[in-house]
Amino acid sequence: MPDVATQFVVTKEHRRFSELCDAVRRERYIGVCHGPPGVGKTESARRYANWDELQPELRHSTLTNAPGDAVDMKARTIFYTPKVHNTPRLIDKDVRTLQDRLGWLIEFGTAGSNFKLSDVGTSGERLVELLIIDEADRLKTPSLEQLRDHHDRTGIGLILIGMPGIERRLARYPQLYSRIGFAHEYRPLSSDELAFVLEHHWSAIGLTLSPSDFTDAEAVAAVARITGGNFRLVQRLFAQVTRILEINSLATITREVVETAREALIIGTAS
Ligand SMILES: Nc1ncnc2c1ncn2[C@@H]1O[C@H](COP(=O)(O)OP(=O)(O)OP(=O)(O)O)[C@@H](O)[C@H]1O
Ligand SMILES: [Mg+2]
Repeated sequence: MPDVATQFVVTKEHRRFSELCDAVRRERYIGVCHGPPGVGKTESARRYANWDELQPELRHSTLTNAPGDAVDMKARTIFYTPKVHNTPRLIDKDVRTLQDRLGWLIEFGTAGSNFKLSDVGTSGERLVELLIIDEADRLKTPSLEQLRDHHDRTGIGLILIGMPGIERRLARYPQLYSRIGFAHEYRPLSSDELAFVLEHHWSAIGLTLSPSDFTDAEAVAAVARITGGNFRLVQRLFAQVTRILEINSLATITREVVETAREALIIGTAS
């Protein structure tokens, strides 16, 4: 069974985020996605870009390697996280490199054996449709200005992911702000979805969650109260739940087990 901690769940928020990405790609606008820590913004963006598979391909600096057939580049999207101490120059360099290389791969993939090295760089960068910048709160005015300029020059769609309030901060930059076509608030899991995610967690440790069972319902309610539907907190809480079950040789997740697990977490919970 795959590890539940690494299993991606396609949530409603992920669907909405993907719709935002599609729209920004289509219109070549700037979009903003904001939400509190741990709700799943980064995971969603990486998933949309298929970044886990694509990133290793982009490390190659030569064209001797054709992209593996299995690598899905349909999204034509780059995912980039600026360093804490970023500069416009560094961002420009990194983004250009990624965009060029993804452009090559797309050209390579489309042209197949007809691909000629001399074609490189002519139109490659234009084939990349979307640039997603994570942790955009780290960007100061010159870096934002750099990205806005890059968006203008290459016509690439741009999504900035940040914490709540980023949209207000961006309003201070009229040139960038006027290009923002879409804003998306990334919300925590709804209670139905939380129950769905918890079913995965229950089954990962060999248990079956039945919402009609009072003990299970009580345990789920405790998880909902403690985590507020925050994905990261659910993961952390469950690591503790598993530990407590093991230490005490218990076979049932009860409200008490969940509350004991919560005490072990110390910080960062919603209640
Ligand atoms: N769709 C998902 N399916 C499964 N697990 C997920 C999903 N989304 C998030 N997670 C889990 O929640 C954790 C936090 O998600 P993520 O890092 O994407 O949050 P974030 O919104 O980017 O937070 P921050 O603002 O702190 O960067 C992930 O490490 C992962 O374990
Ligand atoms: Mg993140």
